[in-house]
Amino acid sequence: MVVSEKTHPHAVCVPFPAQGHINPMLKLAKLLNYKGFHITFVNTEYNHNRLLKSRGPDSLNCIPTFRFETIPDGLPPSDADTTQDVPSLCHSTKKTCLAPFQQLLCKLNNTSLSNVPPVTCIISDCIMSFTLKAAQVLNIPNVLFWTASACGFMGYVQYRDLIEKGLVPLKDLSYLTNGYMDTVIDWIPGMEGIKLKDLPSFIRTTDPDDIMVNFAIGEVVENARNASALIFNTIYDLELEVLEALSSTYPPIYTIGPLQLLLNQVPPDNALSAIKSNLWKEQPGCLEWLDTKEPGSVVYVNFGSVTVMTEQQLVEFGWGLANSKRNFLWVIRPDLVTGESAILPPEFLLETKERGLQASWCPQEQVLRHPAIGGFLTHSGWNSTMESLCGGVPMLCWPFFAEQQTNCWSCVNKWGIGMEIDSDADRDEIEKLIRELMEGEKGKQMKNKAIEWKFLGEKATIAPNGSSHLNLERLITEVLLT
Ligand code: UDX
Repeated sequence: MVVSEKTHPHAVCVPFPAQGHINPMLKLAKLLNYKGFHITFVNTEYNHNRLLKSRGPDSLNCIPTFRFETIPDGLPPSDADTTQDVPSLCHSTKKTCLAPFQQLLCKLNNTSLSNVPPVTCIISDCIMSFTLKAAQVLNIPNVLFWTASACGFMGYVQYRDLIEKGLVPLKDLSYLTNGYMDTVIDWIPGMEGIKLKDLPSFIRTTDPDDIMVNFAIGEVVENARNASALIFNTIYDLELEVLEALSSTYPPIYTIGPLQLLLNQVPPDNALSAIKSNLWKEQPGCLEWLDTKEPGSVVYVNFGSVTVMTEQQLVEFGWGLANSKRNFLWVIRPDLVTGESAILPPEFLLETKERGLQASWCPQEQVLRHPAIGGFLTHSGWNSTMESLCGGVPMLCWPFFAEQQTNCWSCVNKWGIGMEIDSDADRDEIEKLIRELMEGEKGKQMKNKAIEWKFLGEKATIAPNGSSHLNLERLITEVLLT
């Protein structure tokens, strides 16, 4: 449905200030704008400056009904161009963002200061649940958007039970390596057989006052109960059992994924296409390079926007790729290697110069849809997982943190589209798994499964009866316009 322009609903969208959260929120905001909503998209000052640097000032505020505003994130000012520390951001946004956010709402609602329609609803990231207080004051709906998987959310929901059962915090750090993390957690609906090690990484702590554990319980899992509704960027059929279990204790849940496919209803020549959310500048030439490669012949390697690794891990990945003798496109973010610049040995560069391309940032969604891509070596971030699924591309999963461990577990054990790589895998194991992914029997099975899920994703987003298509319509009429 398209909302009548006269009603001018106005949605304020508040992403958590990290690339993997801004991207899906922007997609949702575009869809709502397309359906007649005035949008105010609230970035932090830090990320707004990065967007201006990477995209140029014309890329923002080019549509009168889609405006960008900023609030401070509460961290010390910096003009760096790197990912901010996630625990520090969680802590500072919770502590400091409500007041500037409320000032922004006052400004937007003050007809003598602004010429935008009054704010009628707030859509904020589950991690930015401080907005609930502001929505309560204005008596408007506040929908919380969980931008990751339902299984990841379910993982966080277990934290309190794990503490009550005495399974965490860990007694000491030896519990990370003595087999304890293989303890099977047997009570989670839809996630039978999952182990402690597969639950969101923050649980691997010995500290009863751990910031991230407390944040996950208080700000995410508990506050989500007070939202007007919850949105998940997932496909209903992909996570059916988990979603059904969550539905019994949470506000109405609307699954609207894969958002990138739902966004296909906006014609490519619509002005909204000009609004992009890359915090890094894309390196040109990646797609052209892929055009020169045979179908299914390239391993795509990208660890998202937050993952960091040691120089040794980088080198092992490098030699694993080189020894697999496959083509590869490898995105190495300038801040990927901790405390160092990511420098690969000259012998590696010589050995792979005919078949390897390195880039600092690429148009990932297009890359994963390119026919030359045969497999994806990924950190299992949820956007990357959904984007891989939309391209029908099987994965090698090297989860780094947060719910990525749980995404990886589901890819391997539930959906049949992934194989896990050990966190400290050496070049031989990496080579073996890349060969299996690209030419082995398991690789073929995973490819077939990935194509099945891709069709399911397409079906879910197509009018008139796709579940995600219908859910977005219902979200608008049942929640956002009430
Ligand atoms: C984080 C968490 O790590 C992830 O687990 C959580 O689900 C969301 O937030 P991130 O680590 O950045 O995100 O990974 P991911 O979720 O995959 O998001 C990265 C986004 O950046 C994707 O949309 C991807 O398409 C985009 N990207 C990444 C590019 O456009 N180009 C690149 O070169 C790399």
